[in-house]
Amino acid sequence: MSAHSYTPTAKALHWLMAAIWIAAWILGFCAVYLRETLNPHHGLTITHKALASTLLFLIVLRIAWRLTHPAPALPDTISPAMKRVAGLGHLALYALALLALPMSGWLWSSVAGKPILVLGLFTLPPLTAPAKEWYDSAKLLHVTLAWGMGAMVLGHALVALKHHFVDRDGILRGMLPASRPGTSVTSTRGAEA
Ligand code: HEM
Repeated sequence: MSAHSYTPTAKALHWLMAAIWIAAWILGFCAVYLRETLNPHHGLTITHKALASTLLFLIVLRIAWRLTHPAPALPDTISPAMKRVAGLGHLALYALALLALPMSGWLWSSVAGKPILVLGLFTLPPLTAPAKEWYDSAKLLHVTLAWGMGAMVLGHALVALKHHFVDRDGILRGMLPASRPGTSVTSTRGAEA
C-alpha cells in the first residue's frame, strides 16, 4: 500500500494554478455581485481577466508536464472502479475548470469587443469579431461553468481532505510541498489499533 509523491514541477503548477483559480473565482464573484461598492470603474473585472487569463498559458505547461510525467499510482486501498472515477474527475477538472472556463471568459470578452490584458502586460487576441447576438450565450456559458466548476473544485478539495484526515492514505501528502518525489507514502489507516 504505497503512493508516490508528485514531482516538484507538478506540485508547483498545481498549487500556483489553484491559488490563481480561487483568486479569480472570488474576483469574478465580487466584480458582479459587489459591483456598486467594489467595482464601480470595472477595476475588479479588469483584474479578474488579467489574472484568470494566465491559466490559459499555465494549462499548456501543465498538460505537457502531465503527459510526460504520469501521476503517481493510487494506493491499493482504492478500488479499481474508484480509481477510474478519480481519473475521470481529474480529466474533467483539466478540461472544464482549467481550460473550458477561461476559454469561455475569453469568448465572452471577444464577442463583447472588450480587451483581456494578461497580467497587465499584453492583450490576448480576440477569438471572434464582436458579435452582439452571441453576447447572452457567451455570458451564460461562462457563468454556468464558473458556478458548476466552483462546486466541482470544492468537491475535489473535500475529497482530498477526506483522504488525508479520514482514510490517511497519503494521497494529499503526495501533493504537498514537503513530500519528496519517489518516496513511498504508506497508509496509516488502522495504525492506531
Ligand atoms: C480568460 C479568462 C477569463 C475572462 C476573460 C473572464 C471574464 C469574465 C467577465 C467579463 C466577467 C463579468 C465581470 C463583470 O460583469 O464585471 C466574469 C465573471 C465571472 N468569472 Fe470570469 N473570466 C475568465 C476566467 C474565469 C475563471 C478561470 C474563473 C474561475 C476561477 C472565472 C469565474 C468567474 C465568476 C465566478 C464570475 C461571476 C459569475 C456570475 O455572474 O455569477 N472566470 N468573468
